[in-house]
Amino acid sequence: MSASTEIKREVARRRTFAIISHPDAGKTTLTEKFLLYGGALNLAGSVTARKNQRATTSDWMELEKQRGISISSTVLQFDYKDCVVNILDTPGHKDFSEDTYRVLTAVDAAVMVVDAGKGIESQTRKLFEVCRRRGVPIFTFMNKLDRPSKPPLELLDDLENVLGIHAFPLNWPLGDGPRFKGVYDREKKQVHLFERTPGGAFRAPVAVSDISDPAVANKLDTGVYEQVTEELELLDGAGADFDLAAVEAGELTPVFFGSAANNFGVQLLLDRFIELAPTPSGRMAGEVEIEPESEEFSAFVFKIQANMNPKHRDRVSFIRIVSGKFERDMNVFHTRTGEKVRLSNSMRLFAQDRETVDDAFAGDVAGLVGNHDFLIGDTLSSKKSLSFDEIPRFAPECFAWLHNASTAKFKRFRSGLEQMLKEGVVSEFTPLENDGVYTPLLGAVGPLQFEVLQHRLQGEYDAETRIEPAYWQLSRWMRLKEGETTKEDLPELSMDVRLVRDRHGHLVALIPSPWTLGTFTEKNEKWEISEQPFPP
Ligand code: G4P
Repeated sequence: MSASTEIKREVARRRTFAIISHPDAGKTTLTEKFLLYGGALNLAGSVTARKNQRATTSDWMELEKQRGISISSTVLQFDYKDCVVNILDTPGHKDFSEDTYRVLTAVDAAVMVVDAGKGIESQTRKLFEVCRRRGVPIFTFMNKLDRPSKPPLELLDDLENVLGIHAFPLNWPLGDGPRFKGVYDREKKQVHLFERTPGGAFRAPVAVSDISDPAVANKLDTGVYEQVTEELELLDGAGADFDLAAVEAGELTPVFFGSAANNFGVQLLLDRFIELAPTPSGRMAGEVEIEPESEEFSAFVFKIQANMNPKHRDRVSFIRIVSGKFERDMNVFHTRTGEKVRLSNSMRLFAQDRETVDDAFAGDVAGLVGNHDFLIGDTLSSKKSLSFDEIPRFAPECFAWLHNASTAKFKRFRSGLEQMLKEGVVSEFTPLENDGVYTPLLGAVGPLQFEVLQHRLQGEYDAETRIEPAYWQLSRWMRLKEGETTKEDLPELSMDVRLVRDRHGHLVALIPSPWTLGTFTEKNEKWEISEQPFPP
């Protein structure tokens, strides 16, 4: 087989997606059930195990346990039917961090899990917004139908009204709570009746029949049959056909109902998902779109994490492959530095286990282990000049000084902080006027990032720190408009605005409030003021 035929075939098989949800909606359970269908039975148990046994993994995962959150992200890969499925775990904690956005740059679709008893919750809404902004197709799984749920029509209204996305139910629930008996497949016009299995450990046995089959009506509780047929008529009467192009454009979400814990409706979702979800999409490098089928290898770094496993004290850089074929030991350009690097230690990661990756294709994620000089957003490519611009940057809205508690441990403090800056846990700013004492001034999108930082410095570098919150709420990058000059080429300051430089030496104003931003902007008409760093 020629290289290009192999690449085309492999790309067509890939489905790379994230499961997004509000905490407790059932993301972990659904992931686990997907693995069951992927034949990765041995892995399925360990997803929950990972969630339950975080204390034993590493110190900083202890923080996740305390807070009941998932900060680290894992990539799961399994074969299903003729497809290679990649699931990326998104951090699901309440305080938003940039990490989540970065992971979502590496996916081509998302499965949104909604607790049908609760409807759309805050975190789902935020994650949904990120997906929509990126034009990522979203599939919806209404979960926990075995519990009393909101009426299904109301859940669809929620999608339309709260999220502003059109919804097309591909199946429909037959009752809810104790009266939940299965789902109706609207496309195939088949009823799937389910029987509960303890703990949903096995694939739920299903009997399939037509909705007009008297056996179906008999199975359902009084009133449910009438209600369901009425609802189905209403849906059919609404008349819209299923529009795959609208799904691909992120304007329409196919909706499935079921119960992940009971393993019901999961296979219907997975089967249809792999048929409908897009194959890996290309990514823009400047003005050019790099196609996944291209024979030239390219990838970008979307996550860096050190010390994931206390047994292997090292850094893992996660790359999403955009095009070509990845082969172990290949030499590629690290295009930011122009240097050639050899990708020898490549890993597929599963929780704490690692498996060597020999080859991989567009849509896949590989973890590169070692002390490469990679930064988040960097491009690796067989072409020297290629550069993706995938990773969004966000203006920090929380600021703090980080004090080193023990002078004797300054070296550890500094090297730990350097590592965290590389990983993008926080950003550092340097004040223009310095009083001679070095206390790093840090910025983050959410305060949780500071907590993670402190926890990791303590756990991984034995560096105790103290956080002193600063009063600014906004940061703006500043650049003189073309042809303009000002005194010392610096903006005029308003009350309590502070000028600093970012890691790349670019000028940034830290601003205490939206009100001050107004006066500051008025005073500085000669300046371009941006929420993001200016492109080089
Ligand atoms: P998350 O990753 O989105 O945070 O949610 P997770 O899967 O951990 O599920 C949260 C809780 O909801 C779990 O209960 C899980 O068992 C339960 N759950 C998931 N799917 C369903 C469902 O279809 N029906 C019902 N009734 N419950 C469901 P838990 O009490 O936190 O843990 P566990 O002891 O049940 O494992």
